[in-house]
Amino acid sequence: MLSVQSSVSNARAQRQAGLSQKAKTGLIVAGSTVFSSAAYLLGTRWPTIGGMLEFGILGGGIPLALKGISLGVKGYIESKKYRFNLERVIGSGAMGTVVRVYDRLEEKTRALKFPLGEMLINPDYRDAMTRFYFEADVCERLSHPNILKGHGLLWVPTKVFNRFTGEKLDPGQVPAVPAIIMDYLEGMTLRDKISQIQRDLYHEGLSISYGCGIALQLTEVLIYLRENKLIHRDLKPDNIMMCPLHEMLDTSIPQDVRVTIASLGERAVVFDFGVARLEGPEGGFGTRTGMGIGSPYYMPDEQWKGKAQKESDVYSVGAILWECITGKPPRGYINEGETALDYSTRAAQPVPAIEPFLPIDVPLADKEILQKIFNNTLHPDPRMRYQNLGLLKEDLGSLSFVGRAQQTRIGQFPTLVRQEEEK
Ligand SMILES: Nc1ncnc2c1ncn2[C@@H]1O[C@H](COP(=O)(O)OP(=O)(O)O)[C@@H](O)[C@H]1O
Ligand SMILES: [Mg+2]
Repeated sequence: MLSVQSSVSNARAQRQAGLSQKAKTGLIVAGSTVFSSAAYLLGTRWPTIGGMLEFGILGGGIPLALKGISLGVKGYIESKKYRFNLERVIGSGAMGTVVRVYDRLEEKTRALKFPLGEMLINPDYRDAMTRFYFEADVCERLSHPNILKGHGLLWVPTKVFNRFTGEKLDPGQVPAVPAIIMDYLEGMTLRDKISQIQRDLYHEGLSISYGCGIALQLTEVLIYLRENKLIHRDLKPDNIMMCPLHEMLDTSIPQDVRVTIASLGERAVVFDFGVARLEGPEGGFGTRTGMGIGSPYYMPDEQWKGKAQKESDVYSVGAILWECITGKPPRGYINEGETALDYSTRAAQPVPAIEPFLPIDVPLADKEILQKIFNNTLHPDPRMRYQNLGLLKEDLGSLSFVGRAQQTRIGQFPTLVRQEEEK
């Protein structure tokens, strides 16, 4: 199990050292040696926050400084090869831009996630920058087949950043921009999968077995995040990539996780830890107390009220499963603005009934299990949601059609007819 505690202390150390303040102006490299300056200008990995801590700028100690110099030399040498070739923008979200790159050193396609240019110059975005560095740290430390793997930070010259993102940062003011190096995820987001099926096949949702196969993989993610005391806070179809399985799964992956992935025939990979936090009152640095953060359709009331807890992610998994089956999240029947307003003014809503959305041929036992799953994930009271995620896995696994997803690829789904429309 990885130590997330150390990432907290990193984050604290960074704050204490005023790092996020410096980062705003791109001066994170201030005080570095000629090696690291050369390296960051040429776009190599050095210096990372971890590297800086080791180097002793923030921590201290001659042995660490020596290690830092040797890493700096390595970075300088790597930089001569222009290690990363930026190819094209592959995504942009509310907090930044993702660019596809080719890593010449490792001979692999990778992705770089940049913050918004504004985040580097506007003091109002200091919290967002703190979360950006936390995301880099979390992705690097976590290791799970259903979670996007990160490889630390890269400093990219501002000119290159401007060219690829269309931003207009002044290189005089901000010499280099940090980017999170990540594995490149081949596939389609769950959001696009849902849209595709609605557009091309006029289905409201994906097949139930496919949705439950995804929910099982997300449950594995939650189990792992709990072990590491992390809350994702932004689980939604837009932040899940459905990746084709090209090869046998690594045998170091726990057997039941492998079975879960193999039975769906696709790997659901969770990414975007941009608003993730540690459990407990101390864990939410970078968000003011009482501030709701997340995506209204997929977050429960308590999260909207700034009290996200581990059970909040359980709600999100229920909401995603609901959307897979019905085509809309449980709260998706009004526009997002209204939903947000509802949270602050309206009394908690009861868990909706799934039955009207299920095809008539779903066995009664399965209908009951599905309703039980929704009752225990979408419940307005977090204490009434699954505390033991093993039970959620069991419930999902006990559905008669789960594990038969391989036979129901896109284009072969049984027609889903809403019962109410049949009448
Ligand atoms: N590692 C990756 N590989 C491939 N595409 C990615 C990767 N990371 C992000 N993307 C694409 O970029 C989009 C935005 O990334 P995300 O991390 O969600 O940013 P934001 O925090 O701005 O929402 C995603 O919806 C996805 O399509
Ligand atoms: Mg996102």
